[in-house]
Amino acid sequence: MRAIVLGAAAGGAFPQWNSNGPACRGARAGDPVARPRTQASVAVSADDENWTLLTASPDLRQQIEQTPVLHPQHSQRSSPIAAVVLTGGDVDAIAGLLTLRERQRFTLYATPQVHSVLDDNPIFEVLARDVVAREALQLDQDRPIDLPHGAPSGLTVRPFAVPGKIPLYLERQGETPELVETDQTIGLAVSDGAATLFYIPGCAAMTPALAARLRGAAAVLFDGTLWTDDEMIRAGIGAKTGLRMGHMSVSGPDGTLAAFAPLDVRQRVLLHINNSNPILLDDSPERAQVEAAGWQVAFDGMELRL
Ligand code: MLT
Ligand code: MN
Repeated sequence: MRAIVLGAAAGGAFPQWNSNGPACRGARAGDPVARPRTQASVAVSADDENWTLLTASPDLRQQIEQTPVLHPQHSQRSSPIAAVVLTGGDVDAIAGLLTLRERQRFTLYATPQVHSVLDDNPIFEVLARDVVAREALQLDQDRPIDLPHGAPSGLTVRPFAVPGKIPLYLERQGETPELVETDQTIGLAVSDGAATLFYIPGCAAMTPALAARLRGAAAVLFDGTLWTDDEMIRAGIGAKTGLRMGHMSVSGPDGTLAAFAPLDVRQRVLLHINNSNPILLDDSPERAQVEAAGWQVAFDGMELRL
């Protein structure tokens, strides 16, 4: 199985359009330690020919152009993109679906709750249902991914609930949404029959069940949104903690590094990284700390072979 990181940053990307912070300024100015990154997404393939996208980021058009294996290879109109699997209803996970209009056949897999978010937003009808089939994923059930004409892609996904919240635009003003473990926010185990890759771009906490699921895994791509829970508040760029946004932090006693320390995961990769997180900078002490703990920080174009 091949996996290509199409985008490694969180919603807003790096640099974010309205951020004038030092890291975003560096990314904009071409500082080599502040490599720009687009919004989180990964492409996976079992055969090097047909690709399944894990989420459809708002930057998908750019991501396709910068990834040669995703360019059309046959006839006047075609695409190696055979399927899209969604992990939630956040803007940064679904807006790229609008890029995939133009009556190109592919299959859209999501849980019932995420499908209902799309169903409620008529703009997504631009993916005509006679061309783009919408298939429901059930939690904890293996689902083979099909190619548009029904042949197997060689990949199977197993969706599982992780602690998370409803999408930002569905929150009610002034109310704090509950953190829940439902089919609203999921992780994916993607398998080609030989190897399994976990994709978990948003996760509010490590639960015992999630730890048991990930123990001994070959590769995990995991939520790296914030370094510390209150970093956006302290920097004066936001009023919310990471937890309030549905993300556990990388550092600290309840953080991702600590949570994974006993799990014996062979390849650990942080992605969905917010532009406030210092691990984005190649020369930061925080980057050195995650690498010393055995983690890689994802970048656009990073490839994993399993
Ligand atoms: C998040 O990961 O917290 C969301 O993508 C935020 C957003 O919708 O911008
Ligand atoms: Mn996000």
